[in-house]
Amino acid sequence: MEPFKYHVYVCNQQKPEGVPGCAAHGSEKVIDCLRKEIMKNGLGDTVQITTCGSIGLCERGPNMVVYPEGIWYSGLTVENVSEIVTEHFKSGKVVERLVNTDVSAVRAEIDTNKKRMMAAFKAQDEAGVLPDELNQRIRGFQISRVILSAVELDIFSAVDSGASAAEVAKKLDIDSRATEMFLNALVSLNLLEKKDASFYNTPISSRYFVEGAPDDSRASLMHTVHLWGRWSTLTECIGKGTSVTYKDMVDRGDEWTVPFIAAMHKSATARAPQVIRTVGLEKVSKMLDVGGGSGAYSIAAARANESLRAEVFDLPTVIPIAQKHIDEAGLSDRVTTRAGDMRKDDFGIGFDLVFISAICHMNSPEENVELLEKSFKALSENGRVVIQDFILKDDKTSPPTAALFALNMLVGTRGGSSYSEAEYTGWLKKTGFEDIKLIRLPGPTALIIGRK
Ligand SMILES: C[S@@+](CC[C@H](N)C(=O)[O-])C[C@H]1O[C@@H](n2cnc3c(N)ncnc32)[C@H](O)[C@@H]1O
Ligand code: FES
Repeated sequence: MEPFKYHVYVCNQQKPEGVPGCAAHGSEKVIDCLRKEIMKNGLGDTVQITTCGSIGLCERGPNMVVYPEGIWYSGLTVENVSEIVTEHFKSGKVVERLVNTDVSAVRAEIDTNKKRMMAAFKAQDEAGVLPDELNQRIRGFQISRVILSAVELDIFSAVDSGASAAEVAKKLDIDSRATEMFLNALVSLNLLEKKDASFYNTPISSRYFVEGAPDDSRASLMHTVHLWGRWSTLTECIGKGTSVTYKDMVDRGDEWTVPFIAAMHKSATARAPQVIRTVGLEKVSKMLDVGGGSGAYSIAAARANESLRAEVFDLPTVIPIAQKHIDEAGLSDRVTTRAGDMRKDDFGIGFDLVFISAICHMNSPEENVELLEKSFKALSENGRVVIQDFILKDDKTSPPTAALFALNMLVGTRGGSSYSEAEYTGWLKKTGFEDIKLIRLPGPTALIIGRK
């Protein structure tokens, strides 16, 4: 069976630093270029690309094997990949000068590399050295810190269409020597390019990290910058059993709130259409969006059902941000806002749906029962409560995002955590909800729905 005319395996193997391999030889750029060239030449349905681990010709990577012919290409570059696409995949003519034709030499090279690799593994193991992959995970904070500091300093906007380290340092009023070290590190992470002594944004940094870019993510990433500070207190929080830097949302200034809601807005906007489709809003005419943040879900709900009215309930510090998004969406006649405190204020009555997205993890179990009791009162007969959150399996060790998010709540709240399906089900039953069902969605969150 061959569902595609060509099936291409491109090696993208990462190896320890200093060891030759395809990733170190630029396979990522080659794969990116290969994908683009294939689309440009209208070959998307003809050529299937699969990235793979080492095929044993590590010194001459990046390598690619093309089936069904079994052609082995080595030494791929951004330049010669477009030639392979037009000559081989489009016109059926193999690019001979890039092909490995001596089968026995190829075989011998693979065997030598395999033996060398096994010997290196054995030596590392016998020396009791941490495995490379584990070591990389442990040192992962370095990469994260570099990117977050770049966002914090707004380095990519300062680089703009190209600048030297001294020019960036001058623009941002920061140290020139440190800036050069920092920009070089960003080049090593493929987030900048360096030509002569000047630095340039890559397609990724231009898309996400530069002021005015179409997918400018700087505001929401500032929330991750803030989380870094909290996570640094994890050891202490585990000792104390709660956040050691806790500050109530109401007491946080715009410096914290604006990036926080921007981050929520970005992920909510991406997830909302699927969540709304899954919940089904055809028969809903009045919805309450508890802790509705930017209003992204209410906006998506109002767009999905033209007779639906939604109320975004959130803190007075957040409501102006929601109002701005609602106004921009042209939905202020059907999506209204209410400033209040969900822990103190009543929710009102007569709703067909109470939507509680990314809220329960901020609360203790007792606070969640209170929240569900208020929601129950706010619903009409047969109305539904829809909770969206990181919902753990019952042994609480997976999904991994939910298990790690429990710690995000430990370092940031008084009594919050990620909770399990069994816990949510227990609270919903205790409050009087029926027909309780859990729906796992692609991505990190799940829905749990109960009916009054
Ligand atoms: C993690 S965000 C979730 C936002 C939105 N529901 C979503 O899924 O994108 C939590 C929201 O709860 C709001 N919030 C926190 N404490 C609150 C309180 N006591 N009363 C009302 N809203 C609160 C925050 O302002 C924020 O908008
Ligand atoms: S790393 Fe690609 S062939 Fe070995």
